[in-house]
Amino acid sequence: MYSTLLTTLENNILTITINRPEKLNALNQQVMIDLEQVLNEVYNNGEIKSAIITGSGEKAFVAGADITEFNGLTKEQGITIAKKGQDIFFKIENSHKPIVAAVNGFALGGGCELAMACHFRLCSDNAKFGQPEVNLGLIPGYGGTQRLTQLVGKGKAMELMMSGALINAAEALQSGLVNYVTTPHELLLKTKEILTLIQNKSPLALAKIIDCVNVAVISDSAYTNGKSGYDKEIESFGDCFASEDMKEGVTAFLEKRAPVFRGK
Ligand code: COA
Repeated sequence: MYSTLLTTLENNILTITINRPEKLNALNQQVMIDLEQVLNEVYNNGEIKSAIITGSGEKAFVAGADITEFNGLTKEQGITIAKKGQDIFFKIENSHKPIVAAVNGFALGGGCELAMACHFRLCSDNAKFGQPEVNLGLIPGYGGTQRLTQLVGKGKAMELMMSGALINAAEALQSGLVNYVTTPHELLLKTKEILTLIQNKSPLALAKIIDCVNVAVISDSAYTNGKSGYDKEIESFGDCFASEDMKEGVTAFLEKRAPVFRGK
């Protein structure tokens, strides 16, 4: 169905595997087209409750944008590529269904940016993260200057982007880039275990958590609609009271049974 992605749907979790292992899963234009399409599938297919993004093979999650496609491009083409990449990664960040990165090796440049656009990240103990664009006379263009700063803080983000240095899994955990480090074998198992727990919660509440947290970190006024995150939280909290999910959650608690949420 996708020429550069493998997808499997199991227990309502769509696992999306970027599948160019011979090029360390570098993001060429076709991968970006396929990613946009698979995100439409995540958004629109009611069978999918959450998604995992990972890389094919044992070596790389994604080793960056495909450098071979950058040669000889103009300024205008550079702007177009960055805009398109940012739009696709915003689509991940703004998905109302959880999308988690399972980082199974190198997550460099656009690969680190892809992982950072996900709602949170796990990695295997052989993972390496970095923004080495500076080595090419380039900077991150798919949101990396912003999301890395949000995730690890200004000083560490500056150092990583200015030096192009890579950090290992333990350092990524310590700096807040990932939530868990596992063995390569356990990576998808642990990611699916967390998503299974999350998927049993109210889809409506999950969507509102994602929206409110995003307002806290996305300063673009077009996105926040002039509202502060606190305003957004008040409005979203109120919306929950009008939902069947909240009635079900509260009733189930009082009746000492597990809730059955329907996302309404
Ligand atoms: N774009 C295009 N091709 C890439 C790539 C990228 N970002 N990253 C790796 N590849 C290709 C290599 O060119 C090589 O292809 P070849 O076999 O046809 O020569 C193949 O993937 C394997 O990579 P190789 O460099 O041989 O593996 P390695 O183990 O020696 O090194 C890396 C691994 C990740 C350190 C190295 O590939 C690298 O530095 N990649 C670029 C990272 C980068 O700068 N990313 C930001 C891009 S903006």
